[in-house]
Amino acid sequence: MYALGLCCVRCNKKYPLKVIYKCVDCGGILEVVYDYEQIRPIEMRDKARQRSKNFNLLPLEEDASIVMGEGWTPIVEANRLASQLGLSKVIFKCEFSNPTGSFKDRPISIGVSKALEFGYSRVVIASSGNAATAAAAYAARAGLKSIVLVPESTPAEKVKQAAFYGARVIRVRGPYSNCFNLAEEAAEQLNLFNLTTTFINPYTVEGNKTIAFELVDQLNGLVPDYVFVPIGSGPMMVGIYRGYVDYAALGLVESPPRMVGVQAEGCDPIARAFAEGAIEVEPLANPKTIAGGICDGLWGYADDGTHTLNYIRRSEGYALAVSDEEIKAAQICLAQKEGLFVEPSGAAGVAGLVKSASDGMIGADSCVVVILSGHGLKDMRVLGEFDIPVIDSDVWELIKIVED
Ligand SMILES: Cc1ncc(COP(=O)(O)O)c(C=O)c1O
Ligand SMILES: [Zn+2]
Repeated sequence: MYALGLCCVRCNKKYPLKVIYKCVDCGGILEVVYDYEQIRPIEMRDKARQRSKNFNLLPLEEDASIVMGEGWTPIVEANRLASQLGLSKVIFKCEFSNPTGSFKDRPISIGVSKALEFGYSRVVIASSGNAATAAAAYAARAGLKSIVLVPESTPAEKVKQAAFYGARVIRVRGPYSNCFNLAEEAAEQLNLFNLTTTFINPYTVEGNKTIAFELVDQLNGLVPDYVFVPIGSGPMMVGIYRGYVDYAALGLVESPPRMVGVQAEGCDPIARAFAEGAIEVEPLANPKTIAGGICDGLWGYADDGTHTLNYIRRSEGYALAVSDEEIKAAQICLAQKEGLFVEPSGAAGVAGLVKSASDGMIGADSCVVVILSGHGLKDMRVLGEFDIPVIDSDVWELIKIVED
C-alpha cells in the first residue's frame, strides 16, 4: 500500500491511517496522502493495464477489500443531446449500473473494508438512501451488522432494499442533517465505525476516485473539459477530481478537468456560496427538493460544503442550482430520448448541463462527462401515475387503443 497517512486540510497536521474522523487540533477535514514517488514508476510500467481498481491510489490492500463488481460502469455517448446543445461530445457515466444501483458502492466498498481492518463488528451510516443500501449490502457481504439512519422522506424503495440486505434501518424525523448528527453521536457512544459518506470518514471518499481512473481508461487518456456531478455535500465530485489530480501528478494525464457541481434550487448552499463569491458555505435548515439524494442542508457540518466549494474553485469549475422542474425534464429526457432510467438526483447533472449550455456557460466545442449517479427504480413515487388500460386478449380492443 502506498497511502502514507492522513493530513488535515486546514492545519496540515499528519496522522497515521487509523480511526479518526477530524483533526484533533483544529477540527479540519482529513485526507489520505500517497507516496507518488514510489507509485510513479509502477504506474508508468502498467500504464496500459485496465485494472478492476487502482489499489496503488486507494488506502487499503487489494486482498483486504470487500468487492462485488462495483465500478467499471459503462460510458454512453449522448449524440442527440450533444447536437441539441451544440456541444462536441457528451458522455454519460452510468453509475446506476453499480451492484446496489448507485455510485455509493464505490466509497462504501472502501469503508466496509476499513471497518473490517479496524476490527469493528458493527457500522453506522447516515444516508439519504443510496449509501444506506450500499452499506447494508457490503456489510452483509463482510459479515458485519449495519445500523442505517435515513430521513423520514427517504423513498420506500431505498428503505426496503436496505432492510432486505439485513440492515437495522431507522427513520429519523427532520432533514438529512439530523441523521448525520445522530450517526456521529451513535458511533462514539456505541463504538460503531461511522461509514457516513460525507467527508467525516476520510477513507470512503477515496472510493470515488475510481470514477476518474476508469474514465481515463475508457476515453483512452482523453480528459473532458468538464465533469458535471450532482452534489449534496460533494464527496463524489471531490473524489473524481482527486483521482484526476493523482493521475496528473503521476504524469498519466496532463491536467484535471473543470468540475461542475449541480444542486437543486431547494437545497443549494454550495451553489449559493459560489454565486455570491463567499469564502464559506452557510448551512440550510429546511431544504426541499424532489432530488432526495442531493438534499443535504449541511446543518452542523457546513465545513464539508466549504471543502467542496474550495475544490470547485481549484478546478476552475463552477456550481449551479437547477429547479425541480428542470430535474424532472432531464429525467424524462434521459428515459424517453436516451433509454436511461435514473432517479431525480441521478438526472440533476444533465439538468445542470442543459442549463449551462443554454446560458452560454460552456463553449460549443466542449467535451463533457455527466455522472448519472442513481437508478430510476430507487424512487418510483416521483414518476407519477400512468393510465394503463386492461383489456381482453382481443386484437380489435388493442387496435382501438394503440391507433387512437
Ligand atoms: C443519486 C445520488 N446522486 C448524487 C448524490 C450526491 O453525492 P455526494 O454525497 O457525493 O454529494 C447522492 C448522495 O446520496 C445520490 O444518492
Ligand atoms: Zn487541523
